[in-house]
Amino acid sequence: MNKVVLITGAATGLGRATALKLAAQGYRLSLVDYNEKDGQATAEEAKMLGAEVIFVKANVASEADVKHYVAQTVASFGTIDYFHNNAGIMLPFRLLHEYSSEEYDRLMNINLKGAFLGIKYVIPVMIENGGGVIINTVSSNSFKPTAFNGIYAASKHALAGLTKSIGQDYQDLNIFAVGVAPNTMQTNISAQAISTYTEEIGAKIAATTAPNIPATAEEIADVVIFAMNGAKTLNGSIVNCAGGQIYI
Ligand SMILES: NC(=O)c1ccc[n+]([C@@H]2O[C@H](COP(=O)([O-])OP(=O)(O)OC[C@H]3O[C@@H](n4cnc5c(N)ncnc54)[C@H](O)[C@@H]3O)[C@@H](O)[C@H]2O)c1
Repeated sequence: MNKVVLITGAATGLGRATALKLAAQGYRLSLVDYNEKDGQATAEEAKMLGAEVIFVKANVASEADVKHYVAQTVASFGTIDYFHNNAGIMLPFRLLHEYSSEEYDRLMNINLKGAFLGIKYVIPVMIENGGGVIINTVSSNSFKPTAFNGIYAASKHALAGLTKSIGQDYQDLNIFAVGVAPNTMQTNISAQAISTYTEEIGAKIAATTAPNIPATAEEIADVVIFAMNGAKTLNGSIVNCAGGQIYI
């Protein structure tokens, strides 16, 4: 029976690219996103590639929705072998004191609590399964913040911490975790961030970002699949996808 992969944030960008590559390799896919239109489109494309696929509309920040997407995946496929915990957002570029507490809550509820809730409800399924692999999409901002991105950087530092904790806490249960850290990945996630972009902000971001090689979502999806396959050995570590930017 083909292995089951659950992917959050599968409508666009990295989640979509990972889903389509895995579909072509014969995995069974449960695709989750709150963007129903593009999520359904990813699912249709994956089906065209021959995969068994379900799409579940869910907000990863809602505990009820997370319970639902996990239950739907188990109802359809019986288990979860791999979990790509990937959904995330950015906020408009600002200095820390300029962010509202509502913006802080919105980002943390998706990038950190949403990732935690996924882990919380997927791990019992993996324990029942006799093992599993969790790939968290972290960031170069898990190592060093870029300027005007403090709350996002804090969420990704914390998600790297959760990855390391899974790495140490579940080895005996055959459950392994790896963080995949894109740097400049060519997706639309920064559409919101650039709403406050000015030349001055751009110069400061450039000055605080070491040289790196931008990657496509497809190139980072290859690293996600590498991490899935190598999770036992890579357990608890973060794969830095910065293309030559060395700071760990
Ligand atoms: N693009 C980059 O340069 C970059 C760099 C480092 C890390 N990342 C991380 O990569 C991951 C994927 O982002 P991407 O670049 O592919 O951008 P993207 O915007 O194309 O993909 C993010 C996906 O998550 C979904 N999503 C957002 N909030 C959600 C919620 N509350 N519930 C359900 N789905 C939700 C979106 O609809 C979208 O499909 C994110 O965690 C992001 O932080 C991106």
